[in-house]
Amino acid sequence: MHAQREAGLVTSPKPPDINLPAQRDARRHSRTTSFRSRRSALSSAQKDTWERLWPQLGKQAEATSKALDTQVWFGRDAPLVLEIGCGSGASTLAMAQSEPDVDVIAVEVYRRGLAQLLSAVERENVGNVRLIRGDAVDVLEHLIAPGSLTGVRVFFPDPWPKTRHHKRRLLQPATIGLIADRLRPGGVLHVATDHPGYAEQIAEAGDAEPRLCRVDPDTQRLAISVVRPTTKYETKARHAGSAVTESLWERR
Ligand SMILES: C[S@@+](CC[C@H](N)C(=O)[O-])C[C@H]1O[C@@H](n2cnc3c(N)ncnc32)[C@H](O)[C@@H]1O
Repeated sequence: MHAQREAGLVTSPKPPDINLPAQRDARRHSRTTSFRSRRSALSSAQKDTWERLWPQLGKQAEATSKALDTQVWFGRDAPLVLEIGCGSGASTLAMAQSEPDVDVIAVEVYRRGLAQLLSAVERENVGNVRLIRGDAVDVLEHLIAPGSLTGVRVFFPDPWPKTRHHKRRLLQPATIGLIADRLRPGGVLHVATDHPGYAEQIAEAGDAEPRLCRVDPDTQRLAISVVRPTTKYETKARHAGSAVTESLWERR
């Protein structure tokens, strides 16, 4: 148990398999997931970086994983932010660099995105980022303790535009309730989306969650920065004529 604590994760005895493709992860889930399977081959430079850094900076989330000891993993006690669906991590990196006193965990199922972030973390010598590969719902349920997060960021979650796919959207009332439970009082949920229908659904679910209240960064001081860089995904969305809706709540 002591060695596991030092590694920052008190977990099941099975060693993490970093080569599991996302679609196999998806099949093992009995619930509907919010992610698509994607090919995720790494370049040889990315493989090299992954092999060197993943054991220290990354973890594979399993439905059987136990709660993280983030103080051991980061080697300090600092406000903790979870970014869900970080893609290739452009926002993760920039926001972590702008707030070196805040620790950031990036969650993603897409291995190549995590590998890109890992390379950038090394290149830019950023010490306050850790990565988890897996379904964010598993991560919130099993790895994150209640009341432990100062922030949760969800930037451009997959919109699943077809009506028959709406059940796959990540930000449903149940997930928003789970996020509210994992935030500490004053913790911030920051969501951005370019899909108007999804924005409405998120607004309704966030406003209906009794543990959250809307906040306005122009008039209120918030626990974390809400200044985001514009990612490639967002640039494409804007060029396609989509407006971006930014929503912010604070844990009561
Ligand atoms: C549209 S992309 C946005 C990426 C990034 N946030 C950005 O703004 O460029 C959504 C990302 O969320 C990831 N994702 C979707 N559902 C997820 C889940 N349940 N857990 C972890 N990642 C998820 C997808 O793999 C994808 O990379």
